Amino acid sequence: MREVAIVSAGMTPFGELWRYSLRDLFVEASLGALRQAKADTVDAVYVGNMSGGQFVGQEHLGPLLADHLGIRGVPITRVESACASGGVALRSAFLDVASGMSDLVLAVGVEKMNDGGDVTNVLATAADQENEVYHGITFPGLYAMIARAHMTQHGTTLEDLAAVSVKNHRHGALNPKAQFRQEVTPEQVMASSLVADPLRLLHCSPVSDGAAAVLLCPLARAQEFTDRPVEIRASGLATSSMALAERRDPAFLDAVSLSASRAYHMAGLGPADIDVAEVHDCFSIAEICVLEALCFAEQGRGGEAARTGETALGGRLPVNTSGGLKSKGHPVGATGIAQVIEIFEQLRGEAGERQVKDAAVGLTQNMGGSGGSSVVHIFERV
Ligand code: COA
Repeated sequence: MREVAIVSAGMTPFGELWRYSLRDLFVEASLGALRQAKADTVDAVYVGNMSGGQFVGQEHLGPLLADHLGIRGVPITRVESACASGGVALRSAFLDVASGMSDLVLAVGVEKMNDGGDVTNVLATAADQENEVYHGITFPGLYAMIARAHMTQHGTTLEDLAAVSVKNHRHGALNPKAQFRQEVTPEQVMASSLVADPLRLLHCSPVSDGAAAVLLCPLARAQEFTDRPVEIRASGLATSSMALAERRDPAFLDAVSLSASRAYHMAGLGPADIDVAEVHDCFSIAEICVLEALCFAEQGRGGEAARTGETALGGRLPVNTSGGLKSKGHPVGATGIAQVIEIFEQLRGEAGERQVKDAAVGLTQNMGGSGGSSVVHIFERV
């Protein structure tokens, strides 16, 4: 396998973007990445998109996006793994370059959630229809059950959950691309409207539009495009049972654990080597469970991390410096690539007010559904 680098990135703002269509989002993010690298075409594109068909009635994204980016003829593969579609698109692009099949490859994530579509029901297509959705469960409902299980088994508190949202909103307030740029207090989180007990509005990621793109090439060619490439050291993908009730422990995300151990093994690195991480906080409880599955916290102790400041900017291991899904927004197919862009900028020293001092190794974790799929990548400053 060849060593692979990311050489440039482009991203739209995240939010309710009524003036953008799905194709506009894709083109703006992709052109941003191409222009930064001064490249005018690519060998291949992988686009992560969860449900263009159900959100805006648009399937068959390959030729449509090739037309609108002005690269007709280039192979474009659409990748779907629910909310992990972006992360899996990056993995596909990485494998394409690593294998020697292609040299210059764009990994893009895009989702337009606000233009129609019954969002809650479209998102629920990523759960087990026969064993979960048929009985009326939604994603906030599934994560509420995970939260209850974690609280019962480990004593995690409402204050622990609120601390995750407070931290991520504080980080997001520093991110010009974030959907919500205001800080919130623990009291505001705990008084916000109830969505699925114990989860409230301010524990939930929002409904968002947005796109993000990164350009990959062999590390040996990276200097043609930038003097500050970031190497992709490892990629780990794993699945778990789709239905929450079939998992050994609903409060432990075993697909996250497996995808992380594969990535750590491939990189020859461990959790203690990571300087900064972007993880999948679609609901505040998700960040807590993910920290444990990545071995950043002991099992059952993830709730302490945000409350004690350990995962805040300036803490031992800053997590979700972009604002995370909670504050930056969660256009589902785009999220995995946006996480990568935050780490790319952190490792290049370009994160401005959110910069983690001397960050050299970063990690992203992107999850599908209630944890049925998870993809972890590890990156290193070159
Ligand atoms: N965090 C903070 N504020 C939010 C928010 C969120 N997650 N979602 C909406 N808001 C704000 C809106 O900006 C709006 O503010 P305004 O009145 O000042 O304009 C207000 O709350 C009401 O917005 P609205 O769109 O009517 O909210 P809603 O009740 O329809 O939706 C949720 C709220 C939580 C149900 C929705 O955001 C949601 O479904 N989130 C989860 C998405 C999800 O499951 N993703 C996949 C994860 S696996």
